[in-house]
Amino acid sequence: MKNSMPALMRLVLFTCITTSSIKVAADDSTTPKEPHKNLVVYFSQPEDVSLDGVDAVSGASLLRKNQQNLGATQYIAKLIEQKVGADIYPIEPAQPYPRDHKPLVDFAQQEKRNRVRPAIKHPLPDLEQYDTVFIGYPIWWYQMPMILYTFLEENDFSGKKVIPFSTHGGSRLSGTVREIIALQPNAHVETDAFSISRDDVADSSTPEEVYEWLDDIEVK
Ligand SMILES: Cc1cc2nc3c(=O)[nH]c(=O)nc-3n(C[C@H](O)[C@H](O)[C@H](O)COP(=O)(O)O)c2cc1C
Repeated sequence: MKNSMPALMRLVLFTCITTSSIKVAADDSTTPKEPHKNLVVYFSQPEDVSLDGVDAVSGASLLRKNQQNLGATQYIAKLIEQKVGADIYPIEPAQPYPRDHKPLVDFAQQEKRNRVRPAIKHPLPDLEQYDTVFIGYPIWWYQMPMILYTFLEENDFSGKKVIPFSTHGGSRLSGTVREIIALQPNAHVETDAFSISRDDVADSSTPEEVYEWLDDIEVK
């Protein structure tokens, strides 16, 4: 008996170790996979205009929805966020842009001419957790605003699904999807991007249009 104690202890120890290893293995096989996670990133520059129609000629894109003043792209971003249950991240410039239409248009033109990469105010949340990233922007001077170049050059979307959406004043997507593919060659960029004129954004049919598009591109 005295001599058999170490052997017994070894047996107990062995049993403990094997059962706990089996338990770990079993836990691994039953751990549910992380749910599919979506992120909606957007840049939008609602301008300082009155919403009584007086400023309508300026072509500014501000609209009022659910007691909030929203930029056109911001509104579309929120529709997507709510429909697919995404996290949302607004791209904001470190140095705020002018809020009035004409100074903003001139400022953006200078940025484009000088190929400026405006600094972004807040870092992006950890991308590891997302499979799909929607990227929304207005068309500025027939392309993406320069801050989108900062954003797409500073972040790596390799292996992720990237889904562009945009609002415009007549230029539609204006080659921006090709540009995103060139800037993120290792991402899976959806070419069926959503594009809507600022003149139609406030229409009551817009949410349905966005949801139909999400169905078409099979986003869950
Ligand atoms: C600086 C600036 C440049 C613009 N350039 C264009 C353009 O080249 N083509 C176009 O279709 N719309 C152009 N627009 C109109 C915007 O794309 C449109 O108003 C958009 O819906 C604004 O979205 P937001 O409210 O989310 O910023 C421009 C607007 C601004 C402010």
